[in-house]
Amino acid sequence: MCSIIGYKGKNAAAPILVDSLKRMEYRGYDSVGVATFDSGSILVRKGTGKVIEVNKNLNIDQMAGKIGIGHTRWATHGGVTDKNAHPHSACKNDIAVVHNGIIENYRELKEELASSGHTFASETDSEVIAHLLEIHYNRGVKKAMIETCKRLQGNYAFVAVFQDGTIGGARYEEPLIIGVANDGYFVSSDVLGFLEYTDKAIFLENGDICIVDNSKLEIFDFEGKPIAHPITQVAWELGDIDKGKYAHYTLKEINEQRLTVVHAGRQDEAVMNKFCDILAGAKDIYITGSGTSYHSALIFKHMLARFGKIRAETVVSSESQYALASMDDKSVLVAISQSGETADVLDTVRLARNQGAEILSIVNVTTSSLARVSDGCLSTNCGPEIGVAATKSFTGQLALIYNITDRLCKNCLETERAEFAVVVENIVANQASIMKVAVQMKDASDIYLLGRSLHYPIALEGALKLKELAYVHAEGIAAGELKHGPLALMEKNTFVIMINPRDATFNDTISNAHEIKARGATVIGISDRKDDVYDYWIEIPHLKEEAYYPIAEVIPLQILAYQLALAKNADPDYPRNLAKSVTVR
Ligand code: G6P
Repeated sequence: MCSIIGYKGKNAAAPILVDSLKRMEYRGYDSVGVATFDSGSILVRKGTGKVIEVNKNLNIDQMAGKIGIGHTRWATHGGVTDKNAHPHSACKNDIAVVHNGIIENYRELKEELASSGHTFASETDSEVIAHLLEIHYNRGVKKAMIETCKRLQGNYAFVAVFQDGTIGGARYEEPLIIGVANDGYFVSSDVLGFLEYTDKAIFLENGDICIVDNSKLEIFDFEGKPIAHPITQVAWELGDIDKGKYAHYTLKEINEQRLTVVHAGRQDEAVMNKFCDILAGAKDIYITGSGTSYHSALIFKHMLARFGKIRAETVVSSESQYALASMDDKSVLVAISQSGETADVLDTVRLARNQGAEILSIVNVTTSSLARVSDGCLSTNCGPEIGVAATKSFTGQLALIYNITDRLCKNCLETERAEFAVVVENIVANQASIMKVAVQMKDASDIYLLGRSLHYPIALEGALKLKELAYVHAEGIAAGELKHGPLALMEKNTFVIMINPRDATFNDTISNAHEIKARGATVIGISDRKDDVYDYWIEIPHLKEEAYYPIAEVIPLQILAYQLALAKNADPDYPRNLAKSVTVR
């Protein structure tokens, strides 16, 4: 969504803030802004575009002051304009605020504030925070923060800088983390905002307010009662977000997947055992996730049924409020999320908790809200994923799901992980042949992806990648459903990708390919076996363990979507209108 950062310390704030915003840009990238405090005044520079562009135009990193706040925006309320970019000030310019989340009662607050003489400069919900702070600021920063938080409804984290040089932050259902450095404090949406400067973090909880005043940190609740949280040491590897030799993070992350498979296998025995014991003892299991993580949930359900003889339900997180009525205190919810911050997923967890269920999670960010509220949590261990479209994190989730399944079925899977890692490396290397297909598909307006069984979630995931990265209409279909409607869409100029390895689904899917070809559509086969029905064949290796095919199939689809994005001059790392971590409903 948006990223927020505050800094108060001994160094120039603006270059640090710009640097932090670059590292958190994956959260939102339509506008950027910074406010610094210098010699008694608050200075604001902000504009639309990515951090590098806006900084180049406005020289943000040269702003004076050792205290400041910064923001990257992913628009929710109000268009992408300079005025709607954060930070927002109130009437007297004695406060500037950056916000992540949605203030649900902003309309009534705005009316109330306007009727008492406040004028608004933006269309955002966030600006009401600045005006509320301003009303109470004459009673001190602490009072202003408390009274403002008491009036806000919705989900938010915000950081404000005040005209006396104080920084205040508050958290309610959006992440906010304090970085404790030797010479100052950070208040940030993500540890990546300060990890270059310190690995010491304090994770604020819902309903916490913090104030950094004269290099002193104070944390209290909405009633002003002091709160003590421990300082946690965060793993430095999280900071490894260099693009290296690659043109894009997405390409780097696609190429890293050999290691992803290896790293997902490195699990703490005790944590893994506890996770599997909870699963094995559950009366019923629900698996949830959003976007790509939901596709992992579908594969997990299939793996549990087929190899563990364990029944589970899947629920896409945004639908959970209508779907969990039968859950109780003997149920287990498995929440899958790369970021661990997706609002729909966290809402599902809250619902399940209220019904007494135990919570297990699979995350990539082990410091995330989801990891922290779970009874058992396993990490995909694949390092920071910056490209907005999930690639290596999906592979990591699948590799971990295979591990868990293997444990539950008492080693029934062929787990030659080292061998499989080499296979993955070979698939990743096969980019030239996929490029040929991408060239043919450049002007396609409709792409259908068909698969059965474990390959159906991969059809859905491939379609999602094509939509996200290449802005093309793409649809994943259970291949057996072709005759129930989609066949009517097959004609010349239609592209259909058949996900069709040599397993029990092969013959039926080949029959579908013939039906499609007979209607004039172009057929692309992703398979370990060549067939004349394919106009183009994307070869994947034959696998001893057929349960692993989804990883072999999804990588060519990621590469295809990446190459189509390039062919269409789209930025694969930052697709339009999307955010990596969607922390609003
Ligand atoms: C956003 C991203 C998707 C991602 C989904 C779930 O919508 O754009 O790429 O799959 O969130 O993210 P999570 O962090 O919960 O796995």
